Amino acid sequence: MAKDLYEIGELPPIGEVPAKMHAQVVRPDRFGEPGAAIQDEVIDVPELGPRDALVAVMAAGVNFNNVWAARGIPVDVTKGQARWDEPTDFHIVGSDASGIVYAVGAEVTNVAVGDRVVVHAGQWNHDDPWVMAGKDPGLAASFRVWGYDSCWGSFAQFTKVQAHQCLPKADHLTWEEAAAPTLTGSTAYRMLHGWPPHTVEPGDVVLVWGGSGGLGSLAIQLVAHAGGRAVAVVSSQEKGEFCKSLGAAGYINRKDFSHWGVPPAWDSPEWKDWFAGAKAFGKAIWDVLGEKTSPRIVFEHPGQETIPTSVFVADRGGMIVICAGTSGYDTMVDVRYLWFMQKRYQGSHLFNDEQAAAFNQLVIDGAVQTTLGSVYPYEQTGHVHQLMGDGSLPEGNVAVLVGAPTEGLKDTT
Ligand SMILES: NC(=O)c1ccc[n+]([C@@H]2O[C@H](COP(=O)([O-])OP(=O)(O)OC[C@H]3O[C@@H](n4cnc5c(N)ncnc54)[C@H](OP(=O)(O)O)[C@@H]3O)[C@@H](O)[C@H]2O)c1
Repeated sequence: MAKDLYEIGELPPIGEVPAKMHAQVVRPDRFGEPGAAIQDEVIDVPELGPRDALVAVMAAGVNFNNVWAARGIPVDVTKGQARWDEPTDFHIVGSDASGIVYAVGAEVTNVAVGDRVVVHAGQWNHDDPWVMAGKDPGLAASFRVWGYDSCWGSFAQFTKVQAHQCLPKADHLTWEEAAAPTLTGSTAYRMLHGWPPHTVEPGDVVLVWGGSGGLGSLAIQLVAHAGGRAVAVVSSQEKGEFCKSLGAAGYINRKDFSHWGVPPAWDSPEWKDWFAGAKAFGKAIWDVLGEKTSPRIVFEHPGQETIPTSVFVADRGGMIVICAGTSGYDTMVDVRYLWFMQKRYQGSHLFNDEQAAAFNQLVIDGAVQTTLGSVYPYEQTGHVHQLMGDGSLPEGNVAVLVGAPTEGLKDTT
């Protein structure tokens, strides 16, 4: 007889959906550091709409969204869920997963029960006029990040997704290898290929901040695959060597510089020190390349600490493309460098179906390595997000096992 609830690591027969499930949940009354805010609870398995799919999660990918969601900063993620007719008293974290389709809505044609999939995190309303007009859903008013802006994230035994989010899982990858790279890789793909005419072309120099991190490690590979030359920025020699192993032309250790943050006023004596630092950093890029070529694209996400430098070092007519403000949001742009050198400061957020599918195809083809750094058991979900929030995770992507077997996992507490 069908059970109501299965243990972590135990799978029901394919297609048999239990009434309840384990999920890693945050609630508004315990927002705070992820180690305590993210907790395992047993809740009801969600009902599906006609264009939804229910995926049994085998492994979930760890990313920074979940740290922000746990902290309730910069927004209370549960508040926005009302817009999508979802619960508002809790939120299941997680925007990356690999798993098996267990049920589909009546109108779903792209996946079937039993399919092995990875899930991309882009959601939107199917009846959004912008989407129905055939425009980029990534720019739709109803666009949202599954498992961040919406409730039913990946750190649970089952996740409710829109069926178009499901993409075929690469056969050569384990569940945990497949779980980790979709969100960051597809985001990097849009940043590097989604903003014409600033798409990576052979020979282009691309400055990649956080080259050993989740976004950066995949961005380096995408740049190399397109024939570009990635210059990675890192905080240690070991991380720099890791970036070179991924295909970076070279790296700069940001610890060798101190001009970070919002620069002093341009007409103050202190500004000259900032300018000297920014110029030295630009020269370091040329030293890596062995020629005086500046980045046509700057791949940005630290934000406040680095934007003034990024804007300065981008080439004439180049683009600074940014998807986050990990070090702060109050970025300062000296617009002289923008207008005079005709640079472009471009925001970018997640991706659409085509961009996610294009990245996934590169993974399936083996053109992009998933750089899995470490794997944790489900019970350590809060702990691993705490490590991420503290900046203590080693390089590479990180996955948590949900339905996948845990044999051989080290105790990583
Ligand atoms: N909008 C979107 O669509 C989207 C999608 C994915 C991720 N994100 C966001 O992007 C950010 C990065 O994600 P991730 O997965 O790459 O995180 P990650 O794996 O933690 O890597 C971030 C990297 O940034 C570097 N860094 C940290 N502080 C810095 C500073 N002050 N100056 C320069 N570099 C600094 C670090 O490298 P070093 O210490 O070695 O320099 C670190 O490896 C997060 O805020 C995440 O939420 C946004």
